[in-house]
Amino acid sequence: MITCITAISSVSRHRFLWLGALLLSAFLSSAQASSSDFVLADQCPPSFALDQNNQCRLRNLYQLYDSLQDRGLGGLKTALPEHRDGFSPQQIDLGRLLFFDPVLSADKNLSCANCHNPGLGFSDGMGRSVGARGQLSQRSAPTLWNSAFLQSFFWDARAHSLEQQAVGPLFSDHEMANTPQQLLADINQVEAYPELFKRAFPDASDALVIDNIAIALSAFQSSLISLNSPYDRYAHGDAKALNPNQLEGLNVFRSFVARCSQCHTPPLFTNQQVAVIGTPEPAGLPRDIGAQETFDAQRLRGGFKVPTLRNIARTAPYMHSGRFATLREAAEFYTQGRGHAVPEGEELLLHWHISDPNLTDTELDRLVDFMEALSDESLMPKVPTQVPSGLLSGKTSISLVTASGE
Ligand code: HEC
Ligand code: HEC
Repeated sequence: MITCITAISSVSRHRFLWLGALLLSAFLSSAQASSSDFVLADQCPPSFALDQNNQCRLRNLYQLYDSLQDRGLGGLKTALPEHRDGFSPQQIDLGRLLFFDPVLSADKNLSCANCHNPGLGFSDGMGRSVGARGQLSQRSAPTLWNSAFLQSFFWDARAHSLEQQAVGPLFSDHEMANTPQQLLADINQVEAYPELFKRAFPDASDALVIDNIAIALSAFQSSLISLNSPYDRYAHGDAKALNPNQLEGLNVFRSFVARCSQCHTPPLFTNQQVAVIGTPEPAGLPRDIGAQETFDAQRLRGGFKVPTLRNIARTAPYMHSGRFATLREAAEFYTQGRGHAVPEGEELLLHWHISDPNLTDTELDRLVDFMEALSDESLMPKVPTQVPSGLLSGKTSISLVTASGE
């Protein structure tokens, strides 16, 4: 009860939060489950193998390929970049529960999954996400598929590990708006969590700490692997995996005219670099300077991390603030003239691979066909029907459950 009183007094400036906290404490005591209701997995998710140290290691056909061979213009048998793995099955599974648990947000109505919804390619279908207190975030929520392979995070590349990234949304005013003290107090108040953290971090003297919340979330996110799309089956030698339109699209995609694969380089469909390409902002919004701020570099003004195109058919709208509603519009952007959307008076140093490819309507259609062949959700994790806080209810669970098709 002491933690509950702290929870209320720290938010007492806002009457609606008062009410929220009161409702929450009533709800938490009635609806939450005990640790015995949750058994953390002792096996790795599919496509991972358990090693003798109880760590899950990724197993994938791309690991057979030599990274130095067949590089360049979108070679099929190119190795994957380095990735994060080595988390235990228990850590991954605890991360899954945390990911879906609204108890992580300040007013307990928002989980990571609200903005990274599995049914929407781990994005949210919005140009700009809406945070815990209704604030609009500056940018759109990127997919989390294959984030194990990323070297930098956020559109402006400002974070360098999943752990560093995870504390971002937890404590950002535009996202979950929590504080470390509040978060720990709330999670400790949920009956099941202290025991679940002990099981996931058996060697820690104090298992329920912010660092371990970040590790568990990272463990879960790095299990989201999507590498079995029609494109991948084609790359591994199944000539029939792509239909003729998709194959034509692949050829446009990696042609030196279109140059898509120079930046959206297979097999991840990003070269992980920041590029200035000059996409337009949504009407009425100021220019987002992007990576200029991260690197304190004028030449990166308007630069964004090249996003992966994996499961891209699931994550409309497109670009850093969702300016384009469809893949066709996103593809068209590249053929409307270099710098056509850069406002007058704005000087952007556009990337040299942004050119004037003059793609035909048919070529644009084929590019869309090809991008649609990058979908694979076969390793979709199980969306929990309930989370330890008991807070997965109403709006949250309905949208998640229908979206994941359960
Ligand atoms: C209010 C919506 C919202 C919530 C809740 C939210 N995110 Fe995000 N997330 C975003 C947005 C928007 C971005 C992009 C921000 C930017 O680039 O400046 C993002 C970016 C990310 C990225 C970087 C991906 C990449 O490719 O660079 C990761 C990883 C991530 N979020 C994980 C999480 C986790 C884990 C949680 C829960 C602890 C969470 N998010 C909660 C909206 C949200
Ligand atoms: C110079 C590097 C570069 C080239 C070449 C390039 N892109 Fe991009 N692409 C980017 C960057 C950077 C973004 C993000 C820009 C933004 O958000 O403003 C992006 C975004 C996208 C998106 C939206 C992704 C999302 O998650 O919202 C799609 C779709 C896309 N590109 C397709 C293509 C296609 C098709 C081609 C070839 C015609 C291509 N790109 C060529 C760098 C490039």
